[in-house]
Amino acid sequence: MPAALKIRRATRRDAKHLVAFNRAMALETERKDLWPRVIGAGVRNLLRRPDSGFYSVAELGGEVIGALMVTKEWSDWRNGDFWWIQSVYVRPEHRRRGVYRRMYAHLKKLAARDRAVVGFRLYVEQNNRRAQSTYRASGMERTHYLVYEHLKPAVRFFTPIGRKRGGRFAQRARVRWPTQA
Ligand SMILES: CC(C)(COP(=O)(O)OP(=O)(O)OC[C@H]1O[C@@H](n2cnc3c(N)ncnc32)[C@H](O)[C@@H]1OP(=O)(O)O)[C@@H](O)C(=O)NCCC(=O)NCCS
Repeated sequence: MPAALKIRRATRRDAKHLVAFNRAMALETERKDLWPRVIGAGVRNLLRRPDSGFYSVAELGGEVIGALMVTKEWSDWRNGDFWWIQSVYVRPEHRRRGVYRRMYAHLKKLAARDRAVVGFRLYVEQNNRRAQSTYRASGMERTHYLVYEHLKPAVRFFTPIGRKRGGRFAQRARVRWPTQA
C-alpha cells in the first residue's frame, strides 16, 4: 500500500474527477453511458449540500486516483444515520494496491468520531464479484434485504451501450480523464 496515499474530503475542485470516475464506473460495471449534464449536476449538487453527504478522494502524488460517495440515511430503529457508500471507483492502474481498503479505513475513523453514525451500508450489482469480494474483505456482511426502486418516468440519465443517442452510437463511449488539479 503506497505510504504517500492521501485520503481527503473532496471539494468543488474535484468535481471533474468525480464526474469522470462515475462515468467510467457506469461504463465498466453496467454498460451505461451516463449523460454528462445530469451526472455533472448530480456531483456538484452534493458538493453544495454537505448535510446530505460527501465524497472522499484518494490522492497519490497530487493525482486523484480513486473516490467514493457517502450519503446519509436515518434509521429510526437505531436512532442514528447509516452512511451509504456509493460511486466507488479506483483507477484501473492503481487497483489491488489497497486504495479502497485505505478509503474505507478513513471512513471508519470519521464515523468513529461521529456519534450520530450507526454503521455503513451499500448496494452492489449482482454480477460485480470483484466489488463484492472487496466489500467482504473490508469486513462487511451481506444483508438479507433486496433493493427495490421505482423511478419517475421523466427521469433519464444514461444511454445503454449500443443504442443511438442524437445520431451517435453510445458503444463508442469513452471517458477522458480530466487533467489534474
Ligand atoms: C472494486 C474496487 C473499488 C476495488 O478497489 P481496490 O483499490 O482495487 O481494492 P483493494 O486493493 O483495496 O482490495 C482490498 C481487498 O479486496 C479484495 N479484492 C479487491 N479486488 C479484487 C479482485 N479483483 N478479485 C478478488 N478480490 C479482490 C481483496 O481481498 C483485496 O485484498 P488483497 O489485495 O490484499 O487480496 C475497484 O476494483 C474498482 O474501482 N472497480 C470498478 C468500479 C466498481 O466496481 N465499483 C464498485 C461499484 S459497487
